[in-house]
Amino acid sequence: MPCEIMLNLPLGVDVYPQIDVVRARRETPGCTKVVHFNNAGASLTPTPVSQAVHEYLRCEELTGGYEAESLRAEQIDRFYQNAARLLNCQRDEVAFVESATRAWDMAFYSLQFAPGDRIITGHSEYASNYIAFLQTARKTGAIIDVIPNDERGQISVERLQSAITEKTKLIAITHVPTNGGLVNPAAEIGRIAKAARVLYLVDACQSVGQMPIDVEQIKCDILSCTGRKFLRGPRGTGILYMERSLVQRVEPVFLDLHAADWVERDHYTVRSDARRFETWECNYANKVGLSQAIDYALDWGLESIWARVSELASTLRNRLLEVPGIEVHDIGETKCGIVTFSHSNVGSGHIAEELSKLSINVSTSTPFGTRIDMDERGLSAIVRASVHYYNFEDEIEYFIQSLQKVVQP
Ligand SMILES: Cc1ncc(COP(=O)(O)O)c(C=O)c1O
Repeated sequence: MPCEIMLNLPLGVDVYPQIDVVRARRETPGCTKVVHFNNAGASLTPTPVSQAVHEYLRCEELTGGYEAESLRAEQIDRFYQNAARLLNCQRDEVAFVESATRAWDMAFYSLQFAPGDRIITGHSEYASNYIAFLQTARKTGAIIDVIPNDERGQISVERLQSAITEKTKLIAITHVPTNGGLVNPAAEIGRIAKAARVLYLVDACQSVGQMPIDVEQIKCDILSCTGRKFLRGPRGTGILYMERSLVQRVEPVFLDLHAADWVERDHYTVRSDARRFETWECNYANKVGLSQAIDYALDWGLESIWARVSELASTLRNRLLEVPGIEVHDIGETKCGIVTFSHSNVGSGHIAEELSKLSINVSTSTPFGTRIDMDERGLSAIVRASVHYYNFEDEIEYFIQSLQKVVQP
C-alpha cells in the first residue's frame, strides 16, 4: 500500500522549517511502500546513498575491483574526513569496519586485563558487549561491576562515581540501549572517567545519526557505531573512533598487512593511525555508501534531525497512552526516537506480525539483547517502534489506528 497516497501527504508543503520532510520522503523511495518504524533496526536508505553504492559496484563491474579502488581512491578516502566531521575528531582517529560489534570488539579485545581488574558497565548494556565482558572475566579474572539505574531509569552517575577504585580499568556503557527510549548520560560519565583517569568506551550504535555526537564533549577514549541504523547507511558497515594517543598504545588483537608492515623477517611495525583496527579487504561500495550517508546526515544537520526525531517520538508515546491495554516502557530523563511498549493481552510478537501485514515495520526486543535491564524490569518481549526524521505525523496516526485494530478484543 503506497503510503504517500494512502496518507494523503500535503505535497509541496514544508511542514518543518528545519527539515524539509517532503524532500526527505521524496529522496526515500521506501516511504511509498511501508511505514517504517524500524529505524533502530535499519533505516530506509535514501537515494543518494543507494546511488553511491550502485555506482561504485558498477565501476567494479566494468573496470575490476582493484582498478575501481585506484580510480575512486579520493572518494574512498573521503570516508575518513566525513566520519571525523560527524564525531568531531581527527581523520586518523577513525577506522572503517563491518559492524558496530566488530568496531567495539576490536577495541575491547585489544585491551589488557589482569586478575582483579574491574570493568564498570550499566544495566542496559548490549548483549554482545556483556558476553565479551563475561568471556574476558572468565579468561583473565577481571571483575564486572554493574551500576544500577537511578530513579529516572538511566545509569546512576553517583553510584558509578563511587564504584570507581584504583582497580577500575574500564568504564564501558551503551549510550542508547537497544530496548527503550533511554539516552544514558554519556557526557556526565565522561567527566567522571576523565577525572578518575579511567578508560571510557561508549557504544553509540543507536545514537549516532539520530542526535549530535561529539567525542570531545562526551570525553570518551573509544566509541563504536553502525552505519545501517540512524545514519541510514548500507548494512555491513561500522565506525570505530579511538583517541589518537590511545591508538599508539593499543596494539590490535588482530593484525594483517594493512594494519602492520612486515619490515624484516622477524619484525613488523603497526601503522600509527586508527586504521590499524581495519583489515586490508573491505566492502568498498559500502564504504563509499556510508561516507555518502554521513554527508547526507550532516547536510540535514544533526541538531535538526534530533529535534524532529524527539518530537515525533514524543507524539508517538503520547498517542500510545490513549490505546487501551498499552503500556509504554521507555525510561530515562532524555528519551530518543525509540519507543517501546507492550499490551496487557496481546503478545508483542503477534502485534509486530499483524502490523507488518498492514505495511508497518516495527521490531521486538527480548532479554537476548539486554538481559539485565529486561530481567530487572520483569519484561519478556516488547514492541520497538523507532522513528526517524523522514517519518510523518500521518504515519503515526495510521500506526495508532492499525494498532487499535490489532489489539482490540
Ligand atoms: C546498543 C547496540 N550496540 C551494538 C549493536 C550491534 O550493532 P551491529 O549489528 O552493527 O554490530 C546493536 C544492534 O542492535 C545495539 O543495539
